[in-house]
Amino acid sequence: MRAGRLVAFPTETVYGLGADARNADAVREVFALKGRPATHPLIVHLHDATQLDDWAVDVPPAARRLAAAFWPGPLTLVLQRAARVPDAVTGGQDSVALRVPSHPVARALLQTFGGGIAAPSANRYGRVSATCAAHVRDEFGDALPCVLDGGDSDVGLESTIVSCLEDPPRLLRPGAITPAQLAAVAGGIAVGVAVNAPRVPGSTTSHYAPQTPVSLVSSISLDAAIAAGITAGHRLAVLSLRPTTANAASAVWLVGGTDPAVYAHALYANLRALDKAGCDRLLVEAVPTDAEWDAVRDRLSRAAAGDDVPASDLP
Ligand code: TXA
Ligand code: MG
Repeated sequence: MRAGRLVAFPTETVYGLGADARNADAVREVFALKGRPATHPLIVHLHDATQLDDWAVDVPPAARRLAAAFWPGPLTLVLQRAARVPDAVTGGQDSVALRVPSHPVARALLQTFGGGIAAPSANRYGRVSATCAAHVRDEFGDALPCVLDGGDSDVGLESTIVSCLEDPPRLLRPGAITPAQLAAVAGGIAVGVAVNAPRVPGSTTSHYAPQTPVSLVSSISLDAAIAAGITAGHRLAVLSLRPTTANAASAVWLVGGTDPAVYAHALYANLRALDKAGCDRLLVEAVPTDAEWDAVRDRLSRAAAGDDVPASDLP
């Protein structure tokens, strides 16, 4: 990494594709390998919160409280950038996204390296994030010389992103840390995209997407959609919350479970496995509308967004 090379590493959320955040050439290499537009900024990973002031200025008290409460952990804070942060990292914006991960391998890497590590999720642009080393290899093959293997990512979904450029802070991307938890520490939280919002590529509608077209189907219409698809001769992949009475043998089927943390942990591995099954269509049972499912629901709706066949027209 000191030589300007890229290193993929595990975090508790998903694997990251890391480069020395002070080395603009190395950071540009990340964008090139990922196929990501240069205007979409990266998160700078730090070993601990004491490094915050090397990267950000005018850090508001609410941001310090959030950092103290949730770092190391699956929270990213967007702050006013310090002048020394390379434009390559921020896409030329005035802000910078910072995060202190908790995965022991990420922490060891950050401690040994000493500086900030700029890293997006270790997947090709627009695709499903990687939650284990083998999935990073599937994404990049030999184009990426070094992948640190730290096992499965615990959380399985990308970090909660909070912009501290506003008062109260604003939730930009839902994750494992809920709005209620954030509000309790920050003294309030705004949710949703603001006017003049910074670019958040994860927020482009189609993202986190398998190659097989994804349709979200309500629990109540799942069995009928499967039956209709099979009758029509389609090869179906199904990700459901629980086993159903539909003819499971006729589809490639995975059950995600009804616990949101368990479902999230396995979601990207499940989507990758179903995507590899060579089906015409991937039917995903819609998840509950409760707040604890917010992050999963967000990723599923983006995975389905590229699909031009509404579930109502299935198969
Ligand atoms: O859990 C995670 O956050 C993982 C691990 C590797 O840390 N990283 C990750 O990176 O998901 P990426 O690049 O796939 O998503 C980072 C998100 C993007 O949507 C990006 O637009 C947003 O963070 N972001 C980065 N800098 C920003 C900024 N200055 N203002 C607003 N959003 C920003
Ligand atoms: Mg990503």
